Amino acid sequence: MKYALEERRIWFKGKIIPVHQAVIPALAPTAQFGLNVFEGIPCYWNEQEKQLYAFRLNDHYRRLFQSAEILQIDCPYSKEELQQALVDVIKANEFDENISVRQTLFVDGFGSWGSEGPVEMFVAPIPRNKTSAEYNKKGLRLCVSSWKRNSEKAMPPKIKCGANYINSRYGQREALQKGFDTCLFLNEFGTVSEGPGSCFFMIKNQTLITPALTDAVLESITRDSLMTIAKDLGYGVEECSIKPEELFTADEAFLCGSAMELTPVTCIDQYTLKTHAISEQLHKVYVEAAKGMAEKYTSWVTPIY
Ligand SMILES: Cc1ncc(COP(=O)(O)O)c(C=O)c1O
Repeated sequence: MKYALEERRIWFKGKIIPVHQAVIPALAPTAQFGLNVFEGIPCYWNEQEKQLYAFRLNDHYRRLFQSAEILQIDCPYSKEELQQALVDVIKANEFDENISVRQTLFVDGFGSWGSEGPVEMFVAPIPRNKTSAEYNKKGLRLCVSSWKRNSEKAMPPKIKCGANYINSRYGQREALQKGFDTCLFLNEFGTVSEGPGSCFFMIKNQTLITPALTDAVLESITRDSLMTIAKDLGYGVEECSIKPEELFTADEAFLCGSAMELTPVTCIDQYTLKTHAISEQLHKVYVEAAKGMAEKYTSWVTPIY
């Protein structure tokens, strides 16, 4: 990386500038109401090839367009322009490590929560070890939150927008106060949904079980990748509603997401999970795939340099 962290470059409204110069007006709807949609795009450094690979870029942009459309934020950029901005800002920083790139479309100016524009963009690369604490742990102590996941009919969790993360905040703060690393939300119908910034899997009898996409979850790209990898390795995969009492019958469990990769769960409330063998096997293949080292999954990665 060419710059010190506080001097790193950001793509901001069409220009590449030092991150501290990227300023948004206090009354912009993004600042006041969280009116933005975004992606956290993981990029992996392959030391052997001296190459940085972006993971499932097309799928991240597909989801960004979907979030923008549902929230009625007009994206002023084509997919090619989104990708060019990401490549340009990474190259400007000369990153040679694992990073997460936050690519955000936001409503700027001096409007309200109902404003249509102006829609602007920033693209901010973040070194992986500088993301939230729970994303950098080897095992997670989980509690079932007393807060519910946003209702699909109120704040659809399938939209990746800033304001949805206030719901995540409630659960995360409660978990920390209770002495856990993070939480698991139930949805409005009382079945399992997801973590504050990750999806949930339990493993039982060699089968991965994860809540359905209609159970108030983000359409997670890591979730999809791990289901593919698990099937390819010969494990069963089921997407179905999980009752909270079923959690305590799991052999293994993990949370997953672009920032977290796959992190084993070591306890859910008072219930301890001691084995993580399948989780670790899946994690290994996932990281190899993301680094462009797994032939079967090379279509998932885009070289930056
Ligand atoms: C609420 C929530 N669920 C799930 C995920 C995992 O999604 P992905 O695998 O696409 O990063 C994330 C992370 O982006 C998230 O914020």
